[in-house]
Amino acid sequence: MAELVVALDFDNLNDAVTLAEKIQGVAPWVKVGLELFVSEGPSIVQKFKSMGFKVFLDLKLYDIPNTVQGATYSAIHSGADLLTLHLSGGKRMCEAALAAVKKQNAQTLIFGVSVLTSFDEGELPGHTGTLSNMVELLVKGAQEWGMHGVVCSGQEVSHMKQLAPQLKFLTPGIRFEESSVSDDQRRVMTPYNAVMAGSDFLVVGRPITQAHDPKAVCQTILVEIEKAQQELKG
Ligand code: C5P
Repeated sequence: MAELVVALDFDNLNDAVTLAEKIQGVAPWVKVGLELFVSEGPSIVQKFKSMGFKVFLDLKLYDIPNTVQGATYSAIHSGADLLTLHLSGGKRMCEAALAAVKKQNAQTLIFGVSVLTSFDEGELPGHTGTLSNMVELLVKGAQEWGMHGVVCSGQEVSHMKQLAPQLKFLTPGIRFEESSVSDDQRRVMTPYNAVMAGSDFLVVGRPITQAHDPKAVCQTILVEIEKAQQELKG
């Protein structure tokens, strides 16, 4: 079953909790990103856990293996259910994070980010191939190294699933109309289409956080997810 994650992209606890209260009991997951985490600290994870949410901690870690392992222990202790790191940190860095999960006997999922969507062709330092070539290499690496999943756009999911069928896929850039205003997102997909393409987690920010009725938007997305799941089951 694909899961809805609401991105709480706020810079303070009050705004984040006010929004979380509106979707409590409806959306199963919230995402805490760097902005909120750096301003409020790890205790914010427990705050949302105590409200009944699962927490996706989107820290996109990248450092030497020993440091990433330490940060992964800290994330596990904070109560995070899903943590991101940069796959470009390589095999040893990713394996160090996964080893922390194993040693703690934790359920925390470790997902990899391949190439940031903000990069244009030719902009990635030291890389002469195409960006999609780099994404493919990293996603294949993620599967080999035992990562639990990767972050990728809805348009990439079905291709990535063929390359790395054992991975779970987490998709941002969800919008109700593919032709509608997409804020700064360029590769958007509807919740229904994202699930049909194979996404396991849909990360939705502004369509929910800026809505007049965030709970109603969550419910609409959940109905779309359910509809797609039923069709996939046949
Ligand atoms: O507001 P919106 O729905 O565009 O938010 C999408 C969320 O997914 C944000 O928290 C953003 O940081 C995150 N994200 C993204 N694109 C990526 C990776 C993460 O939009 N490639």
